[in-house]
Amino acid sequence: MSDGANSMWGGRFAGGVNAIMEAINASIGFDKRLYAQDIAGSRAHAAMLAAQGILTPADQQAIDAGLQQVKAEIEAGDFPFSAALEDIHMNIEARLKTIIGEPAGRLHTARSRNDQVAVDFRLWVREQCDAAIGGIDALMRAFLHQAEAGADWVMPGFTHLQTAQPVTWGHHMMAYVEMLARDRSRFEDARKRMNECPLGAAALAGTSFPIDRHMTAAALGFDRPTANSLDSTADRDFALEFLGAASICAMHLSRFAEELVIWSSAQFRFVRLSDSFTTGSSIMPQKKNPDAAELLRAKLGRILGANVALFTVMKGLALTYSKDMQEDKEQVFDAADSLMLSLAAMEGMVRDMTANVDALRAAAGSGFSTATDLADWLVRALNLPFRDAHHVTGSLVKMAEDAGIDLPDLTLEQMQSVHAGITKDVFDVLGVDNSVRSRISYGGTAPDQVRAQIARWKESLA
Ligand code: ARG
Repeated sequence: MSDGANSMWGGRFAGGVNAIMEAINASIGFDKRLYAQDIAGSRAHAAMLAAQGILTPADQQAIDAGLQQVKAEIEAGDFPFSAALEDIHMNIEARLKTIIGEPAGRLHTARSRNDQVAVDFRLWVREQCDAAIGGIDALMRAFLHQAEAGADWVMPGFTHLQTAQPVTWGHHMMAYVEMLARDRSRFEDARKRMNECPLGAAALAGTSFPIDRHMTAAALGFDRPTANSLDSTADRDFALEFLGAASICAMHLSRFAEELVIWSSAQFRFVRLSDSFTTGSSIMPQKKNPDAAELLRAKLGRILGANVALFTVMKGLALTYSKDMQEDKEQVFDAADSLMLSLAAMEGMVRDMTANVDALRAAAGSGFSTATDLADWLVRALNLPFRDAHHVTGSLVKMAEDAGIDLPDLTLEQMQSVHAGITKDVFDVLGVDNSVRSRISYGGTAPDQVRAQIARWKESLA
């Protein structure tokens, strides 16, 4: 390969070929976010090397003090990050060398950047699992709070976004508590599985030094060391599981976000969102746009995008480490940031929203939402086969519709003209309150059922 040819295409980039390579190769621009994890991993590694007689106590102390100084410098914002030093691992080590001199060169004994980045990233993702669990808990409490306030407020339940049957506000809120609880358990589960320490796998094959991987694992809060050095350096399942859990959680948030967009519209007026999470229009004074809800609805795009991106990076990678894997971090960073922000914004919106109880009630009774109650009553009280009851109810709905009234507004005589056996008891099941009160099956929408679920969740969150 001739330098002449290189310099021709390299000329398109200020600084030439070297600058292009540096730009594509360096990860310091983003992996500086791993500085605390990198320093924690190095301190644990050095302490273990000293305990095993691989480092002298004096060298270990110099390294430990130096690393703490580096951390302080980074946190004070006066650390000289350098793209020429590629990544966070080499930036920190180079700075350590400047501070403490020769012993810095001994830190990398029995270690490689391959196990170093694996442990740093695991520690970071593990923290994000904890943050997600905390954010989900807070959001569950916000939904519980809403559910408690309106355990018996009636509202329409929808299928196909068509009014189906009356339900309670509390029941609808508690549906999200169930979803979020599954989200939380996915993060807890992923956290358990990722809690094994890859440090000490070295480049890929382990090391000939007499290291103690159990010691470093324990020092970093892992349950145990990973058991296969090849897998340890090649694995990014922990990041994929995090993104998978994050994607499902963000999907749930997007569904409630969509409901808020619909519910806060002038056509529905089910809820009023607080001013903190809406914006006004610059030319239409009547408008209050649900911007935060819309953005929350969109965030899944980024989070699921990160998930797909990392799967695509990992697909078909021969063992063990390949530089492709450096493309893992930005996706996970962005997804984690988006998820934490989404959880916080949703918590705020849920806490601050005000239900319009009258609008909910009015909508609950519209669209012949108690038709199923009428059919069920015909089965129960008159022993009609359900199919016949369905038919009779259909005729009564048509009669009410033609008269421009609701089912409970039909007279007994009108009803008896369709089926002679109907008695005045039918009116006991026709109102929306009667309807929801009757749904007492386990997990049903009856206020008592909802209150039982609220109590159960409050206890488990306490
Ligand atoms: N910056 C690298 C990454 O993020 C660190 C590991 C580099 N290892 C190597 N053998 N080049 O993946």
